Amino acid sequence: MPTDIEDEIRDEKNPPPLDEDDIALLKTYGLGPYSTSIKKAEKDVKEMAKRINDLCGIKESDTGLAAPSQWDLVSDKQMMQEEQPLQVARCTKIINPNTEDAKYVINVKQIAKFVVGLGDKVSPTDIEEGMRVGVDRNKYQIQIPLPPKIDPSVTMMTVEEKPDVTYNDVGGCKEQIEKMREVVELPMLHPEKFVKLGIDPPKGVLCYGPPGTGKTLLARAVANRTDACFIRVIGSELVQKYVGEGARMVRELFQMARSKKACIVFFDEVDAIGGARFDDGAGGDNEVQRTMLEIVNQLDGFDARGNIKVLMATNRPDTLDPALLRPGRLDRKVEFGLPDMESRTQIFKIHTRTMNCERDVRFELLARLCPNSTGADIRSVCTEAGMYAIRARRKTVTEKDFLDAVNKVIKGYQKFSATPKYMVYN
Ligand SMILES: Nc1ncnc2c1ncn2[C@@H]1O[C@H](COP(=O)(O)OP(=O)(O)OP(=O)(O)O)[C@@H](O)[C@H]1O
Ligand SMILES: [Mg+2]
Repeated sequence: MPTDIEDEIRDEKNPPPLDEDDIALLKTYGLGPYSTSIKKAEKDVKEMAKRINDLCGIKESDTGLAAPSQWDLVSDKQMMQEEQPLQVARCTKIINPNTEDAKYVINVKQIAKFVVGLGDKVSPTDIEEGMRVGVDRNKYQIQIPLPPKIDPSVTMMTVEEKPDVTYNDVGGCKEQIEKMREVVELPMLHPEKFVKLGIDPPKGVLCYGPPGTGKTLLARAVANRTDACFIRVIGSELVQKYVGEGARMVRELFQMARSKKACIVFFDEVDAIGGARFDDGAGGDNEVQRTMLEIVNQLDGFDARGNIKVLMATNRPDTLDPALLRPGRLDRKVEFGLPDMESRTQIFKIHTRTMNCERDVRFELLARLCPNSTGADIRSVCTEAGMYAIRARRKTVTEKDFLDAVNKVIKGYQKFSATPKYMVYN
């Protein structure tokens, strides 16, 4: 008997290897009765669908257009021909509104006034008094509601493509970013907080500071971050030739902004129009002042302003009209100062991120060598360092290049620096 036990122990130590039948059996564990045939059928169906698609020429397209094989150009063309151009009219009055037999008084410019009904494709709730509408040329029925007329040059100011600047591209300015986000993002994301407290959220922010400290940059970062519509106006764009034109543009600008769900209006270089009023001796206001007053008026919001935030940037805050700055219009004033040591190091790192630099450039040292310089100066240093490298026909930028560039830009161009002058003004 002892031999049997010994045999068993040996068997357990090195069991016989599985043969093919055993493996086949193991594979069937956990399978349902028809698993293999179902799997095969699924595969066949997939292959068949692919073959059919190939034969039809259907491809998944990103554009959402149908495949060219399904285009019906002839009937499309016919449809376009049958569709008549509409005429623009203004709906001046609605007779018996909210009833079955509501009628609409429309005014077609230079032709006449008509009392008409609605086309089949328009719902009565879409049409309001005073709206621009499209009417057909036979029965003058209202076919389509039109948006209010807005000067194309105002429409063009909307920033459609998001700028590629993010908060990460702004070196330093932590406090400024924080303040800006508080005013711009908080009321849009959590309006209930303000409602609960019973205060109106701040309407606008004025950014001021020496040239090149990142005011425009931060506004672009805000535009990139937010889902709201972003309108960018340069102050001088609003200065127009004819009397009242500038004010009209401001009005249309805010009208357009109000029609959006949420909107940020950014006036860059606002000192072009926001200068303090003075008497020019000719009597009456001048045009620029009138434009500024219209902005003041719109900020006060005689009409409900909706979710509009106003940002302004300038480097001469002392010249702005006090009326523009008073609390209730631009509540927040954010100063963009010169960056400190740490911020300068960060700005150096931001601008050399895409550059081909030597591994161990001491950015702290470089930042220390550029006292009182702005973000724009530092950017110029980086570019200049690159130029030195190009001149020496090198592919990487060394620390020596940076030091040379600092000497050239910071020391050499000191007389162009606007900072001391800015300090005197303010
Ligand atoms: N804090 C910063 N971080 C990174 N880059 C900066 C910073 N500040 C300025 N720059 C660089 O300087 C350039 C000019 O800055 P920006 O256009 O924001 O100046 P600005 O404050 O609007 O000046 P201005 O008052 O003359 O319009 C930016 O394109 C950016 O490359
Ligand atoms: Mg600017």
